[in-house]
Amino acid sequence: MDTILVMGGAGYIGSHTVKHLLDSGFGVVVADNLVYGHSESVDKRAKFVSADLADINSLNNVFDNHKIDAVIHFAAYAYVGESVSNPQKYYYNNVVGTLNLLQSMLAHGVKKIVFSSSCATYGAPQYVPIDEKHPQNPISPYGRTKLMVEQIFDDYEKAYGLQHIALRYFNAAGCSADGSLGESHSPETHLIPLVLKAIKGERADIKVFGTDYDTPDGTCIRDYIHVEDLAAAHRLAVEKLGTYNGCINLGTGLGTSVKEIISAAEEVSGHPCPVEYTSRRDGDPAKLFADNTKAKEVLGWKPQYTDIKDIIRTAWDWEQNKKY
Ligand code: UFG
Repeated sequence: MDTILVMGGAGYIGSHTVKHLLDSGFGVVVADNLVYGHSESVDKRAKFVSADLADINSLNNVFDNHKIDAVIHFAAYAYVGESVSNPQKYYYNNVVGTLNLLQSMLAHGVKKIVFSSSCATYGAPQYVPIDEKHPQNPISPYGRTKLMVEQIFDDYEKAYGLQHIALRYFNAAGCSADGSLGESHSPETHLIPLVLKAIKGERADIKVFGTDYDTPDGTCIRDYIHVEDLAAAHRLAVEKLGTYNGCINLGTGLGTSVKEIISAAEEVSGHPCPVEYTSRRDGDPAKLFADNTKAKEVLGWKPQYTDIKDIIRTAWDWEQNKKY
């Protein structure tokens, strides 16, 4: 049984992936600094170690004390707006921190890594659906940090034999079907949890950022992918390491507009959502959705959640019974 080190395993996507790996028979060590992660989200079956990407000694301790076969690396800052106002924080953690992780891995003979990349590496799309050959021109420091790490992997492959798969997520959404894990960001900036909080009365309303986009209803279109489908793709990618190196999109291939999200959430919850229509948010492209052919072909992956209402239902269940 292989043991996987999940860096950032107490975060939203990380915690769901830890659960999926354990359910699939892998051994799991979770390393997290708990700055944004939640200790309550760490599966009791996993070993937890406190470690920080900025502290290479803490990383070396993890590899000294555990026999690790592969690493899945989620530990990153991911607020696009903050990356513009405080790029240093993003380059240090997301890029320098990843270099520390790679140094520690290689010093301990660990050469396999699956990485959280993002559709933000593409920047403003030249066409949709976006395939992996689409030019990468990220428009935020956050997107650039993810692209830099992808490029570092290519160089480390040639020089040190690194085996790597970077998964470029579109919009992660939803919560575990059994209600044990969910999305709990502070601050929360993502559309679906904000819509559900507005429905619950926890917020005055949802502000819709722009209604004049070149889309059928004027609001932005995104590809919302269920977090458990993301988790399954990470497990498949771990199993593929060594036979494939490169980048793979993870999306459903389906686009849903902001207005469609709000209507679906109203239907799932049975309550109206108070809405305020406001101006566009800087840097939001009109349409982003994935061509996921490569994920299907290389990983043998297929999203199980293809109806946005099913995705929102899991998020609504969590929103009403949050555990952290
Ligand atoms: N939106 C609103 N109101 C809100 C929040 C969001 O109208 O209060 C809209 C946005 O304009 C966008 C859509 O809802 O059209 C989704 O927005 P999110 O903030 O939930 O997600 P993004 O598409 O901006 O961000 C996601 C990931 C990022 C990643 C980015 C790549 O969360 O990590 O895609 O473009 F960088």
